[in-house]
Amino acid sequence: MLKLTYMGHSAVLLSDGTHEVAIDPFLTDNPLASAKPDDIKAKFIVLTHGHGDHLGDTIDIAKKNDAQVIATFELANYCAGKGVKNVHQMNTGGSFSFPFGKVKLTIAFHSSSTPDGQYMGDPNGLIIEMGGKTVYHAGDTALFSDMKLIGEMHDIDLMLVPAGDNFTMGVDEAAKAVEFVKPKMAVPVHYNTFPVIKIDPNEFVKKLPSGIEGKVMNPGDTVEL
Ligand code: NI
Ligand code: MN
Repeated sequence: MLKLTYMGHSAVLLSDGTHEVAIDPFLTDNPLASAKPDDIKAKFIVLTHGHGDHLGDTIDIAKKNDAQVIATFELANYCAGKGVKNVHQMNTGGSFSFPFGKVKLTIAFHSSSTPDGQYMGDPNGLIIEMGGKTVYHAGDTALFSDMKLIGEMHDIDLMLVPAGDNFTMGVDEAAKAVEFVKPKMAVPVHYNTFPVIKIDPNEFVKKLPSGIEGKVMNPGDTVEL
């Protein structure tokens, strides 16, 4: 069993009943956030890249919970430099088994820097195997045809797809990405948080290939896989 709670923008919380994992916990400055940093009790935080709308409250939550931050080399080191005691450095293409499950960093076509302007290496997508299920969080990315390989090598139960356009894919590219990956369910993320990424998520759902369930989640919604 895997429970996924959408917290708005690209922030999600995963729970298998034993472990909790937060992904990209951007809450304080997120006008759509359904949770506050103090609500998050996760002992693990996994990051796609360093931009402020993804790094978010990571440093504070990690310190408060004594949580481990899992991210690409430069970003994990950045968090350590900000006082996070427990970081795990990875890099694109690698996977590692943690107490809660397995994380693989995939490629993502985007950029990555911290809010204070430091270069943060490459951005990533995340494949997380937990509670017997597999989630692909595509991070912030353009469409790329190697997503077909991700679909070939992983049986994805749920794909989180950035669909808000301007900084990432828009609805047409996001629907094509889902066609490449072939998950059982696809959830649009990274939209409507700011005026420049305003879209109608139902347009995304309408464009999905038949046989793949599209699900619009409002911040605070939970889906059990
Ligand atoms: Ni970004
Ligand atoms: Mn972003």
